[in-house]
Order: sequence, then C-alpha cells, then structure tokens
Amino acid sequence: MEKYINQYSAEKKYFILTYGCQMNERDSEVLEGYLDNMGYYPVNTEKDADIIILNTCCIREKAELKVFGKLGELSQLKKEKPGLVIGVCGCMTQQDEVFQKIKNKTPYVNLVFGTYNVHQLPNLLLQIQNTGEPAYEIWEKEGEIVETEISRRVDTIKAYVNISYGCDNFCTYCIVPHVRGRERSRTPDKIVEEISGLVKEGYKEIMLLGQNVNSYGKDFDHKFDFADLLVEINNIDGLERIRYMTSHPRDFTDKLVETIAKCNKICEHYHLPIQNGSNKILKAMNRGYTREEYLELVEKIKATVPNYAITSDIIVGFPGETEEDFKDTLDIVEKVRFDAIYTFAYSPRKGTPAATMECQVDDAVKKERLHRLMDLQNKISFEKNMELVGSNIEVLVESLSKTDDSRLTGRSRTNKIVNFSGDQTLIGKTVNVKITKAQTWNLVGEI
Ligand code: SAH
Ligand code: SF4
Ligand code: F3S
Repeated sequence: MEKYINQYSAEKKYFILTYGCQMNERDSEVLEGYLDNMGYYPVNTEKDADIIILNTCCIREKAELKVFGKLGELSQLKKEKPGLVIGVCGCMTQQDEVFQKIKNKTPYVNLVFGTYNVHQLPNLLLQIQNTGEPAYEIWEKEGEIVETEISRRVDTIKAYVNISYGCDNFCTYCIVPHVRGRERSRTPDKIVEEISGLVKEGYKEIMLLGQNVNSYGKDFDHKFDFADLLVEINNIDGLERIRYMTSHPRDFTDKLVETIAKCNKICEHYHLPIQNGSNKILKAMNRGYTREEYLELVEKIKATVPNYAITSDIIVGFPGETEEDFKDTLDIVEKVRFDAIYTFAYSPRKGTPAATMECQVDDAVKKERLHRLMDLQNKISFEKNMELVGSNIEVLVESLSKTDDSRLTGRSRTNKIVNFSGDQTLIGKTVNVKITKAQTWNLVGEI
C-alpha cells in the first residue's frame, strides 16, 4: 500500500465539500484517504480547516453557480488565514473556460486538479508547501486507471465500488463524457478483490458505480460483460446486497435481465433513466431507444422479478420539446408507474450539441412542466407505497433516523426508506419489518 507521510503537516486539518453524483462522493473518499495518510485529519466545518477542497459538479448550471457562491464565501476565510489551501477539483475544472474563471476571479484558490488527477493530490500539496506557489494539474485526456487501496469510507455498512470510469454515450445534453473521458473498465479481479476486502471489514452492501454500468467490459479484448461480473460478485461469501448505478436502457440485454433475476444478492431495484417519453426527443437526445423499447424492457423485468421497484431520471424542456412531447412523458410515467423519479429542467451545457439546438424552451415553461411531472409522480409514489402497507419487508438497518433518533432507519431491497422503532444494536443487521404506514418518500413499520 502506498504511504505518504508528511512530517511538516502533523497539525493540519482538512475539509472536503462534495457536489454532484456518487462518482464524486467516491473520489472524495479517496482524496480523504490520501490526506489521512499524509497525517492530516478531517474536521466538520470549513472554518476549522487548513485545507478546503471543493469537489465540483457541472451537470447543470445551478451546480456551477453553487460552487462559485461557495468560493465567494471562502475569500473571507482566506483573508483571516493566509496559509489556507483552497482547492477545487472535480468535473468543473475539466472545462477550460471554468478553469480560467477560477484563476482570474478567485485568485486565492491555490490548488486546482482535474478528474483524471485525483491520485496526484499528495504531490500537489507538497509542491504548494515547498514553493508557496499555487499548484494546477488538469490533464485534458484520461490516463490509465490508477488503482489504490487508500480511502476513508463514509459508511461502515454500504460501500461504493467503481467498476468503470467515463462515458462513451454522448447524450446530446450531457457534459459527463467531456469531463470524465472515455469509458474505461476496471478489471474484474480488482473489483472482486476490493469487494472481498470490504466484506471482511464487515460491509454488507455494495453499490457498483459507473456512468453506464451495463456497458462494462466493452473495452476489454476478451468477452466479459456486466452480467458476467455480477455473477462473480454474487458468489462472494458474506456479501448481502448488490446494487449498481447507472444502467442505460439501451444496453440492458436479455442476458442481464436474466442474470439479475437469478443472482440472489442483487437487489430488486432498477434505476433506469428514461430521460423523456417522446420518441422525437429521445432521438434528439441520442439515447438509442424508443419509448416502445423502454416499455418492452420494463415488461421483461416484470416477468422475471415480480416484486421489482423502478426509478428513473427525466429531463423536461429539452430543445424542441412541445406540449405534445411533454404529454408523452406524462403518459409513460403513468404507464410504467415508477416508484420514484429524479426530475431535471434541461440546462444548456457549453460544448454539448443540445446547447446550440434551435427552439430552446422557455424557463417558465420548463418550471411549469417540472411541477406537473412532480405532482403526477408524487401521486404514483404514494399509491405504490400504500400498496406495501401490511406486507413484511426485509430491511438492512443503516442508522438512527435523522429526524427522530429514537427510531431506526434502513432500506428495503427495492431501495425504499423504512423507519421503525428498534434497538441500536440492530444497525448493520437485516430485519423483517411489517409496514404500517406509507408516505410519498418513505415507509413506516414495526419489527
Ligand atoms: N450516467 C447516468 C447519469 C448522468 S447525470 C445516466 O446516463 O443516467 C444524472 C442525470 O442528470 C441524468 O440522468 C440526466 O437526467 C440529468 N442531466 C444530465 N445532463 C443534464 C442537463 N444538461 N440538463 C438537465 N439535466 C441533465
Ligand atoms: Fe451523460 Fe448519457 Fe453518459 Fe449518462 S449515458 S453520463 S446522460 S452521456
Ligand atoms: Fe456532476 Fe461530474 Fe457526476 S458533472 S453528476 S459530478 S460525473
């Protein structure tokens, strides 16, 4: 295992603020691991820290604005503490104009590194200490996958495990392929080794991470796909639950549907972003499937795993989306009856084809559609949760409830949050809970 011991930094405290998706959360765990190994330790607030790092997201404009807002706040801290290291990493930094803006508008940021440079954090910090100068390292292209065992994991029951990095899909609205590079798969032996280690440490559930997990292995020169990987992981003794995120409807093969159905540890939760219900818009998005094909896939899933839950991501207000197109989205939401959806107003991203398409939709229209979609989904989510009242559900107990610490909270295999009364010693265990009450976002029950 690598070790970076820095004798000058014994007293140094760090704070990492993470924006965006699970990819960033996982990267932050690795960054924290590097800092721990350098002799730094984590603190809970930025004002106590000697190193502050913002791990950024640029999926929508709002995400970027938040980061610049935060950097504005930090300028005051830098005045009070001139030795403070303020770092920015993550997806935003991979866009050259954003990097230039950081350098020009927030010159007190003295550490910037890109998504392909996570492993360089220790050296960059040493460089700052030795020279007193800012350190910038942003590769334009992805390098080889850097394997490391170093990380500070947030949770002790559930763990993220990367299986692939980057994305080759180039959905026309999406910035991810531009800031995370081409898809590269980790080798199965590295993945299995990591998970086996986690199980030995007591982890019960793993979430396999990739922008498009089901195109895993396409870059190998031998045949080994996501379904093959799942079978190997399912064989790991002591592991209880397997989740994966995100799967793409286009790459969801029959082999995968069947493998998921027959592997007992894979949870009955399908997160399958549909993005839109209109074939015209799906085509303009370059998603590679039609609404009919999506519905067919849902039928196949239903036939193999009757007690399944399905969730999705949906974008409203993509360029050219008419009221008719939007109605197709409402219609498919009613047909599939998702358990939950994440809804987004389309946000133009510089450098993506959709940003310069004609017929951009008005913000007010996007907002109005978002509300209609959310109203419909809330009704469906509530109805689907109501159907579970009276049933017994297997729950992996995660922690005390955030809102009421006399209660426990956990998740069903279908990824529903379940709150109930019970003893703290149950945390980390799997229990059977009888559902007594349903809400839109969660379930209430008793053991
Ligand atoms: N790789 C995953 C997730 C990508 S980002 C996938 O393909 O599903 C998560 C979600 O953000 C996407 O599913 C999409 O719904 C949303 N999103 C991406 N780009 C967006 C944009 N420019 N405007 C609004 N929403 C966007
Ligand atoms: Fe973006 Fe599409 Fe890749 Fe998902 S599959 S990360 S939406 S380009
Ligand atoms: Fe955001 Fe990057 Fe994830 S753009 S959604 S943090 S891959």
